Amino acid sequence: MAWMAANMSPTPSLKEAFKNDFAIGTALNTQQILEKDSAAAILVPQQFNAATPENIMKAEVIHPGWDQYNFELADKLVAYGKKNQLQINAHTLIWHSQLPAFARRLKNADSLRMYLTNHITTVAGRYDGKVYSWDVVNEALNEDGSMRKSIFLQYLGNDFVVEAFRLAQKAAPHTKLYYNDYNIEQPQKRAGAIALIKKIQAAGVRIDGVGIQGHWRSYDLPLENIEKSIQEFAALGIEVMFTELDLSVLQNPGPVTADVGQTTAYNDRINPYTGGLPDSMQTQLAGAYENLFRLFMKYKESISRVTFWGVNDGQSWLNNFPVRGRTNYPLLFDRQYQPKPAFYAVIKTSGQ
Ligand code: XIL
Repeated sequence: MAWMAANMSPTPSLKEAFKNDFAIGTALNTQQILEKDSAAAILVPQQFNAATPENIMKAEVIHPGWDQYNFELADKLVAYGKKNQLQINAHTLIWHSQLPAFARRLKNADSLRMYLTNHITTVAGRYDGKVYSWDVVNEALNEDGSMRKSIFLQYLGNDFVVEAFRLAQKAAPHTKLYYNDYNIEQPQKRAGAIALIKKIQAAGVRIDGVGIQGHWRSYDLPLENIEKSIQEFAALGIEVMFTELDLSVLQNPGPVTADVGQTTAYNDRINPYTGGLPDSMQTQLAGAYENLFRLFMKYKESISRVTFWGVNDGQSWLNNFPVRGRTNYPLLFDRQYQPKPAFYAVIKTSGQ
């Protein structure tokens, strides 16, 4: 046990600090789920009480062919969650990205409807009672709040979202069902999300919550819009969650989205911190996290979970998005799994 001065109390873990407020989650990659990442195997159960699979429950992994399902990794995740007392937030049933090749090739309403039904019934059905929640539909909206032109919209029309929730409700009666998207704190897209949620509710179909992804930047955190979003989403009578939180410290040359299809060419100018994050940036990141968690604490009655998109900086998708091969620092633990100033800033907001 570490030595401590008599007047110092040990820093609590994230999950302890916020235990009376909201669940604290992390995305897990395959290595971590398989417990091949020994540092994460210690840190994850210590710090978190919720986990989201970063990729392995997406359709391209779990449902690679019409009649072919690959449940091995998801089953491992469920066992890992049980062993370590983590709620599993399954991600995601219906999304236009990371679809298996066979689904991308479907070209008519009948086959798309069959895919939607089979996929949700089989996958959500198998994990009912084993996972805590599902992101039933991910990223169905455009930035202006209109419906994204995915193959689901194209062949099944606007109602595919309601249909997906209806199927999930039937297949997974014991699982919380959520809508998840990025930039839905922004006014136009938020209005679209509210309309979509109201439509599901008006159809008499269950929706338990909304996930605001939270892929933001340390230097322009949209705090006012986040606050309005919490208020407006909570007013719909559903849980509000921050499901994929990370704060990039790097400038993005292109538009500000989390659209995984977006890519920008690499150049050294937009990768300035390969040798480490300067103190001034470290402080800015900590300050942004502190402001954000102060807001979360103000609305803790409405917020059920905050999940970080990764355990440490080294594994973050932001090292490769929207530009491949950069060095980013968006999380609370550094590449050696050590807590950063941002970690302590977050803990401080809990009052623990
Ligand atoms: C990302 C993963 O982190 C990457 O490993 C993968 O290559 C692409 O997808 N919104 C989502 C997540 O809902 O599923 C995405 O995850 C990030 C954006």
